[in-house]
Amino acid sequence: MSITILGIESSCDDTSAAVISDGILRSNVIASQKVHEEYGGVVPELASRAHQQNIVPVVDAALKRAGIDKHDLSAIAFTRGPGLLGSLLVGTSFAKGLALGLNIPIIDVNHLHGHVLSHFIRQNENDTVPQYPYLCLLISGGNSQIILVRNYNDMEVLGQTIDDAAGEAFDKCAKVMGLPYPGGPHIDRLAAEGDAHRFNFAKPHIPGFNYSFSGLKTSFLYTLRDAKKLDPDFIEKNKADLAASLQRTIIEILLGKLKKAVEATGVKTIAIGGGVSANSGVRKAIADYCSAHNLTAFIPERAFTTDNAAMVAIAGYYKYLDKEFCDLNATPYARVTI
Ligand code: KG4
Repeated sequence: MSITILGIESSCDDTSAAVISDGILRSNVIASQKVHEEYGGVVPELASRAHQQNIVPVVDAALKRAGIDKHDLSAIAFTRGPGLLGSLLVGTSFAKGLALGLNIPIIDVNHLHGHVLSHFIRQNENDTVPQYPYLCLLISGGNSQIILVRNYNDMEVLGQTIDDAAGEAFDKCAKVMGLPYPGGPHIDRLAAEGDAHRFNFAKPHIPGFNYSFSGLKTSFLYTLRDAKKLDPDFIEKNKADLAASLQRTIIEILLGKLKKAVEATGVKTIAIGGGVSANSGVRKAIADYCSAHNLTAFIPERAFTTDNAAMVAIAGYYKYLDKEFCDLNATPYARVTI
């Protein structure tokens, strides 16, 4: 009998549902919430209300696109945390209600595990997946971590940011440049036309595999503030070069520690995940580094870099195989580590 998992993701501002049958993705539907744009960031209360409006049509669309009747589901996997509590509650409660009605188990998924396991989402039988162990560079709006992945349920954080995440560095610097939220994709677009060596910004010097991005942010801010005093149009005139130089610096910081981790562990497979792994410069830098050092690179499709339920469904699929179900009285958690 085939194993069919419905995945539900509602940790932040994307409502998503996906269906995976026997490890192969059948559908992945995402409703992004536009309501936050005018506020320059995610407003938690508005996010949970939007999830409530979206969850039924999104799940319905995922089942229809997959050509699956809800009675054929084996289990429902849901993001239990980390994330916004009100948002997580919507997905968690929905998963429980539907599972209770269908008399099938629920499976709780750590959102971070989902990002790390997104490379196991296969769209057809021929898609390859990483061999264990691999190193995952998880870079998003809330995280910058180097993770040693020994198995789907055995991960060790080797290093992480001690202050801002890489995505925050993109977003906060973009804000100073007057770009809309989230700024990462705008920096990416502008950087393609700029001179990446025009400006130099501060880089951290901290030991081990940990990251820091707050010094870069401050140095970017001061450069712009001082330059604007001399020329009020400085940002407008130099936005492509500023974006390209900022992006280069972030990539150099990310790659610097990743290289150290590769040397220390001897691991030969590198994967990236999280929203910032959609960045063209990051993707190219990882691909170039891996091909120059005979390492295997796993770079996710852009659709699987940001929050999506396909990664929740695949993480749930592996837990299902090990019969790792979760109690119906499980509550979401806002904070949790790998
Ligand atoms: O994983 P994600 O969707 O969720 C959060 O952790 O919130 O990551 C969102 C982050 C934002 O900081 C956004 O600016 C960044 O990913 N991002 C990018 C790009 N696309 C998304 N950063 C740089 N270049 C991109 N193309």
